[in-house]
Amino acid sequence: MRELIYYVAVSIDGYIADPTGGFDAFLVEGDHSSVVFGEYADALPAHAHAALGIEPPRKRFDTVIMGWKTLRPALDMGITSPYPHLRQIVASRHSRDVDPAIILTDDPRATVRSLKQEDGLDVWLCGGGELAGTLLPEIDRLVIKRNPVVFGSGISMFGGAPYELSAFALTETRSFESGVVIEEYVSRGRA
Ligand SMILES: NC(=O)c1ccc[n+]([C@@H]2O[C@H](COP(=O)([O-])OP(=O)(O)OC[C@H]3O[C@@H](n4cnc5c(N)ncnc54)[C@H](OP(=O)(O)O)[C@@H]3O)[C@@H](O)[C@H]2O)c1
Repeated sequence: MRELIYYVAVSIDGYIADPTGGFDAFLVEGDHSSVVFGEYADALPAHAHAALGIEPPRKRFDTVIMGWKTLRPALDMGITSPYPHLRQIVASRHSRDVDPAIILTDDPRATVRSLKQEDGLDVWLCGGGELAGTLLPEIDRLVIKRNPVVFGSGISMFGGAPYELSAFALTETRSFESGVVIEEYVSRGRA
């Protein structure tokens, strides 16, 4: 069955961005990039494919879902459709003027449940933390790129979600000389 996969870069202490929303501290270069630019190249934006001179493989994901505050930095840079090779779904509780390629949802949990009924490749939960907190019960797999830095504070992986235990089983750990560790977990459902 089609899965919802939260594929995300985090600090050692579980932050996806610093308090201002920046994530320049995450390593782009290094031996872990073979995974980022290879296996997970579908999760690169179009401008990265162009810079790398590669085509999106369209083998891992066919859909991305993100929160409005994750799309907004792209809009600020004049990029209205960052992942044109994917179906792009953006969660917002407001009416927004967006590129025709963007599908807005004000009920991301219902949207994800409906996507899971369809045939297709997996759905990439891009982030950010607030949306991931909302979608936590729907997450089938976590693919965490843990970077060798501590933020101390910032935007956490699941935003301000309330305490509620969710059990995951560790299925793979890959350590790289860059210091990045890619951890994969599969959901065991609510404990
Ligand atoms: N490290 C990484 O790999 C990574 C990945 C993705 C993002 N990020 C970073 O994460 C930061 C953004 O994360 P964030 O937690 O602040 O925000 P976010 O989750 O990206 O977006 C929050 C917004 O999404 C909408 N939203 C969230 N839950 C919703 C729901 N249940 N129903 C309807 N709309 C919903 C709301 O938009 P409205 O306000 O429009 O209603 C809300 O204000 C950015 O700095 C981004 O760069 C990092």
